[in-house]
Amino acid sequence: MPMVDLDGLDPNRIPRHVACVMDGNGRWATKQGLPRTEGHRAGEEALFDAACGALELGIPYFTVYAFSTENWRRPHEEVRFLLNVIADQLLTRRRDELHRMGVRIRFMGRRDWRVPRWVVRRMDEAAALTAANRAMTLTVAFNYGGRAELVDAVRAIVESGVAARRIDERTIRQHLYAPELPDPDLVIRTSGEFRISNFLLWELAYSELVFTDVLWPDFRREHLFEAVREFQARDRRYGNTPGVRDDGIP
Ligand code: FPP
Repeated sequence: MPMVDLDGLDPNRIPRHVACVMDGNGRWATKQGLPRTEGHRAGEEALFDAACGALELGIPYFTVYAFSTENWRRPHEEVRFLLNVIADQLLTRRRDELHRMGVRIRFMGRRDWRVPRWVVRRMDEAAALTAANRAMTLTVAFNYGGRAELVDAVRAIVESGVAARRIDERTIRQHLYAPELPDPDLVIRTSGEFRISNFLLWELAYSELVFTDVLWPDFRREHLFEAVREFQARDRRYGNTPGVRDDGIP
């Protein structure tokens, strides 16, 4: 049962899967006269608080966009810092805290030559340690791109030798990075930008989108609750008439 005072939220309509584009770390740091990297450090705190809030609300799946396939183009120092924040904070200190709270940690994205082996090792360790946890699944999109995910799915389908006429939406879903993950009901993007930025392109076909001006390092569980409140006020129709669900989910 959720431990939080739901304060106007309908406990029967908590989204099953919430995904976040954690944007605005750099601007937050610049506004404080700090190097951009400090924004990422503060962003990690925000992520942990938001994950705790998701757990309190009883959201079963929480997914965050931590590092995109395009983020490698950032200055070397910033990339190295981000890798260290992810590896040292999330995959060591937070890993144990999240494990105690019953959170399963998973990763989605390309594991290509750009991802250092030691980071891959820590990802695998965190995933293995927390594999049996069921309170919530935290999926970290790392070296992730929605188009790359579709390219990888098409390659895997072709390699499987399936006949073209047998390929349908279910086939594509089964070849995504995390086929068992339900589509996000709610996608939140911070920092006042109105873009999807190559995040979960297939999966968010019917997601409700909530945009907030809050810069990610200032994001706290209360902002998550506010977004869920907004989500609950929406009328999801999936291209159908009101109240009827037909989103193709098996
Ligand atoms: C976007 O802000 C944010 C990122 C590129 C990285 C998100 C990373 C974190 C929140 C750090 C911790 C993550 C984990 C998984 C521990 P930006 O740098 O693009 O900000 P800007 O648009 O203001 O420049």
